[in-house]
Amino acid sequence: MIRVAILISGRGSNMASIVEAARDPAYPAKVALVLSNKPEALGLRTAAEAGIPTAIVRHRDFASREDFDAEIGRLLAGHRIDLVALAGFMRILTPGFVESWRGRMLNIHPSLLPRYKGLDTHARAIAAGDAEGGCTVHYVVPELDSGPVIAQERVPILPGDDPAALAARVLVAENALYPKALAEVARGLRPKAGG
Ligand code: GRF
Repeated sequence: MIRVAILISGRGSNMASIVEAARDPAYPAKVALVLSNKPEALGLRTAAEAGIPTAIVRHRDFASREDFDAEIGRLLAGHRIDLVALAGFMRILTPGFVESWRGRMLNIHPSLLPRYKGLDTHARAIAAGDAEGGCTVHYVVPELDSGPVIAQERVPILPGDDPAALAARVLVAENALYPKALAEVARGLRPKAGG
């Protein structure tokens, strides 16, 4: 069974949807750790209530990004993690750390990549007059929001949409897409340490 760690910074709706999907015995991955860089992240409570081990790594407690990432690496190793899913994790990881997880680290981004990398994706899609928005699950590479695409889901942009309305519609698509994309990746992976 592939052991997954989900890294969050906030609400954790994508994390919760993966946790929910993984309750099915046929799901090819187990959520073995939920880690947050923010102690107040709502998702930590959701994970703990679901009986999933949680960890907090506060970036302010570390002198450098390398030290912060090294601590995350230690926790992932300690929990024998095979696959990492970033889900609203608002820290940029160092290139060395990302490289060490190449092919084993996923992210979800609220746009149809390669359009609208970075922040404020919904406002930018509306301002551009796009007819569609959506979300993308992709492999993480050192360059932000640029790794190979695993799956995408499109949603319409409707007349009168503001960024919040579009974000809400896209989030429904995200919550459906991420568990499916993660399962697809997990089925193609071997556990790192056996078992
Ligand atoms: C999602 O929109 C995700 O695409 C973006 O951050 C948001 C996280 O939402 N990276 P949640 O914490 O999973 O509810």
